[in-house]
Amino acid sequence: MKLSDNKATLSFSNGHAPIELPVYSGNIGPDVIDIRKLYGQSGMFTYDPGFLSTASCQSAITFIDGDKGELLYRGYPIEQLATQCDYMETCHLLLYGNLPGASAKAAFAKNVKYHTMVNEQMQFFLRGFRRDAHPMAIMTGLVGALSAFYHDSTDINNAEHREIAAIRLIAKMPTLVAMAYKYSVGQPFMYPKNELSYAGNFLHMMFATPCEPYVVNPVIERAIDRIFTLHADHEQNASTSTVRLCGSSGTNPFAAIAAGVACLWGPAHGGANEACLQMLEEIQASGGISKVGEFMNQVKDKNSNVKLMGFGHRVYKNYDPRATLMQETCNEVLEALGLQDDPLFKLAKALEKIALEDDYFVSRKLYPNVDFYSGIVQRAIGIPVKLFTGIFALARTAGWIAQLNEMISDPEYKIGRPRQLFTGSPRRDVLPLESR
Ligand code: SDX
Repeated sequence: MKLSDNKATLSFSNGHAPIELPVYSGNIGPDVIDIRKLYGQSGMFTYDPGFLSTASCQSAITFIDGDKGELLYRGYPIEQLATQCDYMETCHLLLYGNLPGASAKAAFAKNVKYHTMVNEQMQFFLRGFRRDAHPMAIMTGLVGALSAFYHDSTDINNAEHREIAAIRLIAKMPTLVAMAYKYSVGQPFMYPKNELSYAGNFLHMMFATPCEPYVVNPVIERAIDRIFTLHADHEQNASTSTVRLCGSSGTNPFAAIAAGVACLWGPAHGGANEACLQMLEEIQASGGISKVGEFMNQVKDKNSNVKLMGFGHRVYKNYDPRATLMQETCNEVLEALGLQDDPLFKLAKALEKIALEDDYFVSRKLYPNVDFYSGIVQRAIGIPVKLFTGIFALARTAGWIAQLNEMISDPEYKIGRPRQLFTGSPRRDVLPLESR
């Protein structure tokens, strides 16, 4: 980052001397006011619940222009990566900062392939769960448990440990998600097959059985790979910020990623794709498109606490470019599977059209986000609704790891420890029990 010749001066009406704060510029996007010395100079904190105006770090990985609806991974537009590259190339880009050539890509993919198996002991963790346990409960447990098997790669300050932990996590997340699914349907776990692609191997572990050969459908393989790429990273979103804050204590990478899995689960974040599909199914069950007007009135009624899931975004105040690509993927998959008339897809498109013409949404700049169509395409592929967020976590692991490693390598990084505005009781003395 570069020191700007612009300065910020904070003046106070209580007679406190004005304070001058340095301003820094990045390569693109808003400048930042450096407030690190503010408390020392003023005795005051800044106040920004939800971090609407706060940069927690400097980063070179992902950039979003919310007004333009632009998403760049290391400078490359998501539209180009999702259509011209695959998830392995995207992982390499996020981790190392460049798109690999053919030989580097082959070496990276081979390295990942040779870490796709998990220790045989891992399967016994699943036996402790009920068969109907939510896959994100299982994933939160399994990812954290990985740290129990890899004591040779848990020192986050060791660059070699960080490298092997990154490969292990990217390699093993599909295996763990597929194990969570197989456990829920009472089928045997399927081991990885190294001759398959990353996406093809995931589909194999999910849908193959020992009873007969399983042939990967190339249209589905391409679709799931694109879903992985679209979800791979997204600046300092809630789960990535969780991974950074957790990792800032020096804990091992597996524990930090497990914290990200737990955060992503929430319906306001990665859990929105599951919530969005449930919303569509409820509208469909209550009458479908004829009931959309009634549903929208509920959404606009503040007291209903009903939200149009898959709509709105903290940063995008224009179309989420991932939603456009996800809708295209939806079309491709539904056509390939002969499901063009999928009622939920038609319902989603009707909802989107109505919302984009309604002043409530237009005035609040609420557009479809990545979660609005992702559930429909995953459901068409045969992925159960409860597994959608697990697949989001699988895909986001590359971004989480890249962001964690960037933080650890940043000379300015410290353990994260926000302050507060205290509104509780001033000091008071304990009264004896008989006097209370
Ligand atoms: C993801 O941060 C990331 O990058 C996340 C993510 C990633 O890749 O990591 O992009 C993934 O989490 C996408 C978002 C998935 N969540 C949902 O689809 C859930 C529904 N969306 C909302 O919960 C909401 O839009 C958020 C949480 C996504 C954003 O919330 P903000 O930025 O805090 O905005 P807000 O809640 O303050 O909303 C502003 C206004 C409010 O109304 P007013 O108080 O101004 O009257 O818009 C309304 C909100 O009530 N609003 C909605 C709405 N989203 C916002 N009203 C109805 N339906 C919605 N979906």
